[in-house]
Amino acid sequence: MKLGIPREVTSEERRVAVVPKTVERLQKMGFDVIVESGAGVAAECSDAKYLEAGGSVVTSAAGVYAEADVVLKVNPPTSSEVEMLRDGQILIGMIWPANQDTLIAELAAKGVTTIAMDCVPRISRAQKLDVLSALANIAGYRAVIEAAHLFGRFFAGQMTAAGRVEPAKVLVIGGGVAGLSAMTTARGLGAIVRGFDTRLAVKEQVESLGADFLVLEFEESGEGEGGYAKVMSEAFLEAEMKLFAEQAIEVDIIVTTAMIPGRDAPVLITSGMVETMKEGSVIVDLAAERGGNCALTVAGKIIEHHGVSIVGYTDLPGRMPSLSSRLYGNALTAMLQEMGGGEDFTVDIDNEIIRGALVTHDHAITWPPPRPDEPTTTTDYAKDFGKRPESESVDVEHTPVIAPAAKKGIMTVVGALAGLALILAIGLWAPTDFTTHFTVFVLACFVGWQVVWAVTPALHTPLMSVTNAISGIIILGGLLHLSDHATGGAVALGLLAVFFATINITGGFFVTRRMLAMFRR
Ligand code: NAI
Repeated sequence: MKLGIPREVTSEERRVAVVPKTVERLQKMGFDVIVESGAGVAAECSDAKYLEAGGSVVTSAAGVYAEADVVLKVNPPTSSEVEMLRDGQILIGMIWPANQDTLIAELAAKGVTTIAMDCVPRISRAQKLDVLSALANIAGYRAVIEAAHLFGRFFAGQMTAAGRVEPAKVLVIGGGVAGLSAMTTARGLGAIVRGFDTRLAVKEQVESLGADFLVLEFEESGEGEGGYAKVMSEAFLEAEMKLFAEQAIEVDIIVTTAMIPGRDAPVLITSGMVETMKEGSVIVDLAAERGGNCALTVAGKIIEHHGVSIVGYTDLPGRMPSLSSRLYGNALTAMLQEMGGGEDFTVDIDNEIIRGALVTHDHAITWPPPRPDEPTTTTDYAKDFGKRPESESVDVEHTPVIAPAAKKGIMTVVGALAGLALILAIGLWAPTDFTTHFTVFVLACFVGWQVVWAVTPALHTPLMSVTNAISGIIILGGLLHLSDHATGGAVALGLLAVFFATINITGGFFVTRRMLAMFRR
């Protein structure tokens, strides 16, 4: 099976669908790879490197299209490229079918099987194929680098003999992949970062990056279908823009990434807000291609308004062509693997990933894919959180049962009474020595329980070192009990104490080592 990699003909495109390293992997999967001469030059991939990796190089695009069974591309094909495609050939690339009615009609008419990498369903099994996330990650990073290039100060604050430099303040609107990547990069450069998203689920992620999440006092959820955002009400957008108006006066850099799939970008930064920003400030609008989140954005350009630079680049991943091509090629490889590799290659329309991305097949337009069946919930009470369908209402008065909550309450009271009775018995009949030790034991259990359970998970590592110290004391106590004069029971208890405390200490070191290894590069 032959894979063809033509040179991207869209103007200014520097990426290539597959880099030489990926060619090696594709060959191991049973494919032959044919590359158009010069296809990877702008992404630092010379013809010689492709040849070295085992690919073959042909001089013209026509040669690639004529020989290949599957054509791998980055951008949608131009009309001259569509002409070179033939019946039964497979095209895999970014297609954006929602905006390409004519193109997909042409591809279907020609009998080309088209797979759109931008339509791969965002399910966990398809993470390796998710080019949108891979490219948005690069775009978020590059957005901050572009801002840093235009911004006249350090991002991190500095206190030097020559004077004090304040840290830059960066606001990132939208906490999707691109937004989170922008926050990470800006934090890495030392800026004070604030983030905002309509989906509150993003709050923890933003905070875990060391950024502050701006909270809007407004009761409306931004969660839409499939984890994506939904269109917010006018009132919400108004309240949100009020927040941004206050922020615009304070911050130095705004990166906007707010988008709802399939819609125009909401305008969140007005020209009035831009005018209140400090001179030298920068706005990078990642939503430029869909109209922009800033009213003044011009797609593909940098403009200046009242001393504020507004970046509307729509090709941010393409500005890092070598990395983008590598990650894109990895996703293509995962797609080809999903399709059976070189030996068992097939277009399996029962595979939800393939079906989701299939745009044309067998002379027909197959996009959009059918929606996955809604789960049947009529009798699935567990899924429905205990709610019964109205038609099946149950006469509660005739079914006297104890509610689970009441049952739990009764059990707690019984348990507490039994515990009290035990303590009373020990107080009345046990020797004084035992009672003293028993009191210390009960208090230690109580304090230990509270300490472990009341500590937030983020503080468990320092807590672990404290428990290690306590375990050290327990080992010493255990060893004392193992002395020559100890009786059988005390020796057994001493052994148990030493055994469990040793597990705790060695386990503590083991976990710490694993955690440190995670940060080692
Ligand atoms: P995404 O859909 O994962 O994230 C968008 C985020 O914006 C979501 O978290 C959503 O909740 C949030 N959002 C929506 N409406 C909002 C509002 N009114 N206020 C605040 N937040 C709101 O998308 P992803 O992958 O993170 O990409 C973000 C944007 O960057 C998209 O527009 C994408 O097309 C664009 N992009 C631009 C590139 C370029 O070169 N300029 C390259 C790659 C992506």
